[in-house]
Amino acid sequence: MPTLAPAPLLPPAAARPPRPPATPVLDLPVVSFFGRSLAEYTKFFALDVAALKGRDVLDVAAGPSSFTAEACARRIDAVAVDPFYGRPAADLAAQVQLDYARMFEQMRAKRRLFRFRAFASFDEAEAERRAAAQRFIADYEAHFAHGRYVGGVLPRLPFFDGTFDLVLCAHLLFTYAARFDFDWHLAALRELVRVSAGEVRIHPIVGPDGKPYPGLARLRRELKAEGIASQIVEVDYEFFTGANAMLVLRRAQP
Ligand SMILES: C[S@@+](CC[C@H](N)C(=O)[O-])C[C@H]1O[C@@H](n2cnc3c(N)ncnc32)[C@H](O)[C@@H]1O
Repeated sequence: MPTLAPAPLLPPAAARPPRPPATPVLDLPVVSFFGRSLAEYTKFFALDVAALKGRDVLDVAAGPSSFTAEACARRIDAVAVDPFYGRPAADLAAQVQLDYARMFEQMRAKRRLFRFRAFASFDEAEAERRAAAQRFIADYEAHFAHGRYVGGVLPRLPFFDGTFDLVLCAHLLFTYAARFDFDWHLAALRELVRVSAGEVRIHPIVGPDGKPYPGLARLRRELKAEGIASQIVEVDYEFFTGANAMLVLRRAQP
């Protein structure tokens, strides 16, 4: 009797559909021109907005966030810095359209990377962030000439030492961990501290996989050796998974 070859358990590799990665990761080949509102900043930076009235606040890598526009309307002396500033408002509005469509498509496709605490749905998040970008564009058109929006690129900012009471930086460091190496992160953190007379807050402390930036402990050790104290502070906010904390830096008192 001829013997039958056993049926293959799996089709050949080429015929199999690609398996989705066990843990999804945000795919961030370029830094997106994507921004959030003052309400969102208030949550992920645990801000006391009333106490900031009359204080000098810098938003670094501010993109199309409306934080600065809304803060200035509340009599906070806020300034925003981003490499895109200096371009015509129409170009920035076009970039917003492109990057928001790209990001929200990816976010919806990778919903396992999101927690619905800060927003009830992607639609709600998209509506709020698109409204933030619109407020930004209007304010940029009105106040670019007054120096509210300044072109600048980390790790070198165009400000004197100790200019700002509070320096904020959201969704650049650590988020784009694959684009910027350890030395860049260290230089960027030093620069944020240089322009601050008080505190620096950075959010989130996770990378595009929702896991803490692997070099964080080493960064903190290097900064400590230079007299910069750091603290990880949990915040009452989470949309991207794991993004529920900020890094707070201060120059230690002599
Ligand atoms: C994802 S957006 C974050 C905007 C805002 N901070 C927020 O959280 O809503 C990142 C921004 O970083 C800016 N950026 C890219 N490289 C930078 C650099 N080396 N220094 C400062 N900003 C940079 C981009 O232009 C972009 O607007």
